[in-house]
Amino acid sequence: MMSKEKSTTNIEFALEEDEDEIIYKKLASYKSNHTLSGTTKIPGDKSISHRAIMFGAMTEGETMISGLLEGEDVIRTARAMRALGARVEKGDDGLWRTFGTGIGHLKTPDDTLDMGNSGTSTRLLMGIVGSHNITTQFIGDASLTKRPMGRVINPLTEMGAEFESQEGGRLPITVKGAEKTKAIEYRLPVASAQVKSAILLAGLNAEGTTTVIEDKPTRDHTENMLRAFGIHVSTTKNSDGSTSISVKGGQSMQPCAVDVPGDPSSAAFPTVAALINQGSDITLYHIGINPTRSGIFKALKAMGADITFKNERIEGGEPVADIHIKGTNPLKGITVDPALVPSMIDEFPVFAMAAACAEGTTYMSDLGELRVKESDRLLMVAEGLKSCGVKLEMGEDTLTIHGTGTSPKGGAFIKTELDHRIAMAFLVLGTATQEPITIDDAAPIRTSFPNFVKLMEDLGCDIRGTE
Ligand code: S3P
Repeated sequence: MMSKEKSTTNIEFALEEDEDEIIYKKLASYKSNHTLSGTTKIPGDKSISHRAIMFGAMTEGETMISGLLEGEDVIRTARAMRALGARVEKGDDGLWRTFGTGIGHLKTPDDTLDMGNSGTSTRLLMGIVGSHNITTQFIGDASLTKRPMGRVINPLTEMGAEFESQEGGRLPITVKGAEKTKAIEYRLPVASAQVKSAILLAGLNAEGTTTVIEDKPTRDHTENMLRAFGIHVSTTKNSDGSTSISVKGGQSMQPCAVDVPGDPSSAAFPTVAALINQGSDITLYHIGINPTRSGIFKALKAMGADITFKNERIEGGEPVADIHIKGTNPLKGITVDPALVPSMIDEFPVFAMAAACAEGTTYMSDLGELRVKESDRLLMVAEGLKSCGVKLEMGEDTLTIHGTGTSPKGGAFIKTELDHRIAMAFLVLGTATQEPITIDDAAPIRTSFPNFVKLMEDLGCDIRGTE
C-alpha cells in the first residue's frame, strides 16, 4: 500500500502520463484514405468515475476502483477529496483506491478547491460539503466560472448551507456547510442529474428523508452507485409521470468494488466518425448503455445507422455492451424525439455533425441546457457548422440542420472556448469533409478523453498537430 505522500505524486502522474497524447494546441482533422476499422476500448465513464471517487471518499474503509477515467476533471475530484481528508491513491496495479472518512467527517480543506473545467465535480461537491460543518472555497477556469451554480445554491440553502458567490451565482464561491442539515423535498426546475445528485448527497447527512422529484428522467448513476455502497435509495413513479427519489439521512456507506464501464459520451465520437465515413466497421468494447445515457444510439438508429449492441450484460450495477458500428448507408435526417434529450444531452455536438452529413433535415428541440454547458454549445455548433458550409437555423432552444447527404465543405478554423466536446465533435466532422477542419485548442480534450487523438488514429483517422 502506498503512503499518502506518494499518492500525491501519483495523482499528478495520472495527468502527466496522458500528456504525450495531445501535444499540439491546434489540431487539424483530414479525410483519411482509410475507412475506420478495428476494435477498441473507450476510457472510463466520467460521471461514474467522479461518483466512485466521491462516494469512496465518504465511506469508511477501502473502495477499489477499476477502469477509472484518468481525465483532468476526475483528477480534480480526486484532489478535492484528498483535500477534504480522504486518501485517494492509484496503485502500481493500475487500480485506484479510496480510504474514506465516513459521512459527516470531512475536514475543512487547507486551500481553495480548484475545480478546473469540471461542473460535475463542483456541483456534486457543493452538496457534499454543504451538509458538513466546514467552509470550502471553489474556483474554476474561465469556462466553469461562467456556468450557473444557482441551481445547486438554491436547494442547498434550503437545507441550511450558506453561500457567497459572484453575480448570478457564479464562481468563485464560498460554501459554509450547515451545522445541522435539513431534509427537503425539491422538484427540479431543470432536468439535471448534477442538481439531483447534489441534493441527495447532502441528504445523506441530513435529519430525515430528502426527496428529489424529477419530471424528466436524468442519468441515475448516483442512485445506482449509492445502492451499491449499501445506501437505501427509493425511486417511485408518481401519477403525473414524474419520479421521486428519496434518501434517509444517517445511513452509513459500505465500501464496495467499482468497475467503471467505457463512457458512452466518449464512444459517441468514433461512432459518428464511423457512420459518416462509408465502409467503416468498428467495435467499441465494454461501453455503458444505461438507458439514461444511450439516447444518442437510439437517435442515430432512427437515422438509419447500423449499430448493434452485442454481449449485453450488467457489470457493477450498470448495463454494458460491446457496440458494433458499420458505416453502411448514408444517414437520413429526422426529428429528434424531445423525450430523448436528457439521455443524449452531452452528445448533441457530435450528433449535429452526423446531421450535417445526413440526407435531409434534422430538427432538434428542447436544447436550452446546451447553452449552459462548458460553452454555449448550441451557438458553438451552429457557428462552427455554418463556417463549414452547412445550412442551418438556430432558435432559442432549437436547431435545424439541412444535410445534403454529401460531405460538407469544411475547411474552417473552429473556436472551441475550452469545450472538450466541441473540439472533438469538429475533429470528427473533419474526418468526412472535403477540406480539413482545424480546432483552436485541443487541451480541453484531456478533461474527458485523454487518448482521443491516438484512439481515432488507431481506427484510421488522420488528425495532425499544426503547431
Ligand atoms: C452529469 C450530468 C449532466 C451532464 C454532465 C455530467 C453528471 O449535467 O451534462 O456532463 O455526471 O451528473 P446536468 O446535470 O447539468 O444535466
